[in-house]
Amino acid sequence: MHYNVKLTNLQKQSTDCLVVGIFSDSILAGAAKKLDMDSGGYLGRLLQQGDLGDEVGQTLLLPNVPQLVTQRLLLVQCGKESDFSEAIFRKVLFRATQALKQTAVKEAINTLTELPVKNRDIHWKTRQAIAITADVLYVFDRFKSQKKPFPLRQLTFQVSTTKELKKAQKALKEAQAIAAGVTLTKDLGNNPANVCTPTYLAQQAQQLAKNYKTIKTTVHDEKFIKKLGMNAFLAVTQGSHEPAKLIVLEYQGTSKNKKPIALIGKGVTFDSGGISLKQAAAMDEMKFDMCGAATVLGVFKTAAELKLPLNLVGVIPATENLPGGSAVKPGDIVTSLSGQTIEILNTDAEGRLILADALTYSEKFDPEIVIDIATLTGAIVMALGSHASGLMGNHQPLIDDLKIAADKSYDRAWQLPLWEDYQEQINSNVADVANVGQNGGKSITAGCFLARFAKNFKWAHLDVAGTAWQTGQNKAASGRPVTLLVQYLLDKCLR
Ligand code: BES
Ligand code: MN
Ligand code: ZN
Repeated sequence: MHYNVKLTNLQKQSTDCLVVGIFSDSILAGAAKKLDMDSGGYLGRLLQQGDLGDEVGQTLLLPNVPQLVTQRLLLVQCGKESDFSEAIFRKVLFRATQALKQTAVKEAINTLTELPVKNRDIHWKTRQAIAITADVLYVFDRFKSQKKPFPLRQLTFQVSTTKELKKAQKALKEAQAIAAGVTLTKDLGNNPANVCTPTYLAQQAQQLAKNYKTIKTTVHDEKFIKKLGMNAFLAVTQGSHEPAKLIVLEYQGTSKNKKPIALIGKGVTFDSGGISLKQAAAMDEMKFDMCGAATVLGVFKTAAELKLPLNLVGVIPATENLPGGSAVKPGDIVTSLSGQTIEILNTDAEGRLILADALTYSEKFDPEIVIDIATLTGAIVMALGSHASGLMGNHQPLIDDLKIAADKSYDRAWQLPLWEDYQEQINSNVADVANVGQNGGKSITAGCFLARFAKNFKWAHLDVAGTAWQTGQNKAASGRPVTLLVQYLLDKCLR
């Protein structure tokens, strides 16, 4: 897809399709008003007849509107002007793009970016518009014998003034780089587990290093992992024949002396639960259990595209979690890289085991900040659904920065209390710590477990089990929280 931002004269510019928003409670405004005048009141008459339904997001495609140079008009119901919000702005963009995807339109001008959204400027609107458009137009058809391409190739977003144009151009650049990262993350997530193995993830990380000279990738094998003493990581991988990998990425965008931000991604390429086997229903979706890892790769791609002036380290423990004959058993005790012993009471709580060792390993890079991203608990899906990622950590200013980035980017997150009181749930009577909590608050006790391995640095944890993919028959990776993290990094560059 080719994206653009422009200040076009809608009366003169010929195009395959003009996308125009309509408010139900106000006489025609903005682009709609101009087009109504040009067409001799055609639009007004049409709306008066009620030809555009009043449900927000409803669309109406009009070919050959009299006296207009555009070939088609796509009207979108935006509801009451007084109710117009961020959520409705996103919804109408989503629905308009869905409608556009169904048509023969090759190229279109979208004027929805001109609609005023309270407290949001053209930068925000352009970023959102491109993110939503890219999301709707994404297809994963690698394994489809019959591909069904759509004709749409080029989209221009309309701005109102030359002053806005400058801001929109900056947003366009960011949005394109983010879309590239998000697409990579989605592709990795959507690939089945027989394709997207730890080895495949490692190859993808190496590909990034080939494509960008600011990225360096090192892949460690099981021998290295063993020698180092990452026994919590090894415990998870020992039931699988697929070789585990410890993938390390380094992005250098500024002086070597500047401490890096470490991003740690859970890379369980398939989570069967191990001996604590999961039930069959929806187990296929556990191919998405590497979305944290995929997010790290996506963020690296975007950072390199934008040449962000900071340094990053990515640490990805990649493994399968399978119940083979040599699999780890409930009650087994291992000594983690940190030296703390772990009683593995439930082999399905494997994410925190590999992350514990990865957190400790990241200390080697003396990071300024460590953020882990993991599809860690089913409980976070119960608590927050698919709208917000769970956010926890040991340094409130870092959490606040992530919250700001989450709100700004609409890749939202919600903080859970990582209170000391929850810690006792994961005490073990035979080891230093148990890998599951005994009572409620499963997302928090998972965070508590990680916190015990994150004592030496400023750390935040994003539980993305509810946000990294959409479940059900239309299961698909979302590419979240790439946008949130890139926003955090963009904001950090300005501080
Ligand atoms: N990968 C899962 C988390 C998960 C479950 C994500 C369902 C999305 C949907 C994780 O490894 C896991 O199995 N967690 C357990 C932890 C429990 C054993 C304490 C869970 O949430 O059930
Ligand atoms: Mn599990
Ligand atoms: Zn898992």
